[in-house]
Amino acid sequence: MCGIVGILGHEPVAGALVEALRRLEYRGYDSAGVATLENGRLARRRAPGKLKNLEAVLAAEPLHGTSGIGHTRWATHGKPTETNAHPHANGRLAVVHNGIIENFRELRDELRGKGHAFESDTDTEVVAHLIADAMGGGLSPVDAVAASLPRLKGAFALAILFNGEEDLLIGARDGAPLVVGFGERNGDIYLGSDALALAPFTDELAYLDDGDFVILTRQGAEFRDARNQPVERRHVKTPTSVLLVDKGNYRHFMAKEIHEQPEVVARTLAHYLDMSEGRVALPFALPVDAAQLPQLTIAACGTAYIAGLVARYWFERFARLPVEIEVASEFRYREPPMRRGGMTLLISQSGETADTLACLRYAKAQGQKIVSVVNVATSTMARESDIAALTLAGPEIGVASTKAFTCQLALLACLALAFGRARGVLDKKQEAELVTELMAIPGLMAEAIRRENRIEMLAGNLSRARDVLYLGRGTSYPLALEGALKLKEISYIHAEGYAAGELKHGPIALVDKDLPVIVIAPHDGVYDKTLSNMQEVAARGGRLILITDADAPHDFGGDIETIAMPAMNVAFSAIVYAVPVQMIAYHTAVFMGKDADQPRNLAKSVTVE
Ligand code: F6R
Repeated sequence: MCGIVGILGHEPVAGALVEALRRLEYRGYDSAGVATLENGRLARRRAPGKLKNLEAVLAAEPLHGTSGIGHTRWATHGKPTETNAHPHANGRLAVVHNGIIENFRELRDELRGKGHAFESDTDTEVVAHLIADAMGGGLSPVDAVAASLPRLKGAFALAILFNGEEDLLIGARDGAPLVVGFGERNGDIYLGSDALALAPFTDELAYLDDGDFVILTRQGAEFRDARNQPVERRHVKTPTSVLLVDKGNYRHFMAKEIHEQPEVVARTLAHYLDMSEGRVALPFALPVDAAQLPQLTIAACGTAYIAGLVARYWFERFARLPVEIEVASEFRYREPPMRRGGMTLLISQSGETADTLACLRYAKAQGQKIVSVVNVATSTMARESDIAALTLAGPEIGVASTKAFTCQLALLACLALAFGRARGVLDKKQEAELVTELMAIPGLMAEAIRRENRIEMLAGNLSRARDVLYLGRGTSYPLALEGALKLKEISYIHAEGYAAGELKHGPIALVDKDLPVIVIAPHDGVYDKTLSNMQEVAARGGRLILITDADAPHDFGGDIETIAMPAMNVAFSAIVYAVPVQMIAYHTAVFMGKDADQPRNLAKSVTVE
């Protein structure tokens, strides 16, 4: 995850920008840069590698401006070179960016056609040129930003500094966090990726909502929403001592972690894809001859196991690789025979789960190559694996896994495509198409998050249920299991997940007017089959809640509540549909007054059998 800072101050800001960037180092980065206004003219200093390299550049060529922006970059589009480091600038403005601009190729082609010359491989540079282009057409900086933002697809946070505008800094947020800080001294104003970056300067903050942009001057902050209408954003005080485990503007870590997903999924994808080339680019060599591998074994627990169930569809479809998957606690005692030189994949957020670790050791003893998908780089599983493939979700504090799950899915999708290529199942074009679909995921997740109000409205009703049934087909079947697991663990309502086709083989006996049936059904090849199952529920008076694409027809003659998701290409819909599934559980639990972050009887890391 890249880090963003911006300052309008009264003293030279370059040192303070670097200090703030240092506090964002935990997010990971591979180059850094700052830009300030030197007597009104934009000047920037950038360096690949660690912040000390940037400091050395600044020591050799100091900057003295009192308005500036800074950035630590985690490379997505293009290598971590000085040219690709942010800020990206042209004669009119400099911009720093966190996230992915999904439609950057189209925008770049369009802007090239208008004579704009690009110097980097990044997606960010199109933002600089797009806004400059609008200014070239006579718009003011604020109007140019307002006109440009709706053209950007993806998930992003931006900070923009303008040539000749000593008293103006603009921030924008859509799917990646951004916070404004109000300095103790009147007129000092800050922008940052998180409160931690701004901790040395201020504890008085206001968070941007998704779709917002903010116009900062030394007189204050003017917030505008996605329709360019002025809005108020609450000021909050966040003491420095709690910043390391900061909930931001959220009531619970779980809510914060749900909202972080566009950003952390983008970051995870960026680590495993070459977005410029539109191909998978694993940062390690597969430890087996993928073309010869007869089968892949997966073991995990709880939500991580469900991630494996989703991935099975992808490995089988995109790599034609048979998958054997089981919950780790069963797998380890079954003592299955395993071929030497085969591959076992373990999935775990913590990397410490006792049963999963036991499977790892068992498979290793059987001569298998071990790949673990883990979120904690220093964990036991990471250390004991041949390959530790890291999900870059950042620390997950809420006990119920959310962002770790979707990052696991993102990484597993990349792995499935890598196997598909290595096994000759996917050609270059197919791989590029699927990678383009994956790159769209963070933006779609940001869209999905905007359905939160609708979900909150449904939660009140759900909270009165004694039991809830979740149904899905294809990759939505494991999501149905995940929905039921999430709801049980944090609201304590009994819930079951079923493959929709199994309904009439038993669970339909439960259906009556008191049973909410949540149907997860993206508008894909099995959608119509799921509609038939819904008819069966409606005919028995069941209460249907359908989560589907906004353009999916669902007029089947029964009463139904819908959660309309953005229309999307279907292969990786599970990553996006995880969002409403998590939010249903979260809001139901909150409505019932439960502690969503620390549900009773559960621990974050299960190190006992
Ligand atoms: C559910 C949940 C658990 C974990 C499971 C495995 O929300 O969080 O089911 O997924 O305990 O934990 P890890 O991934 O750390 O191995």
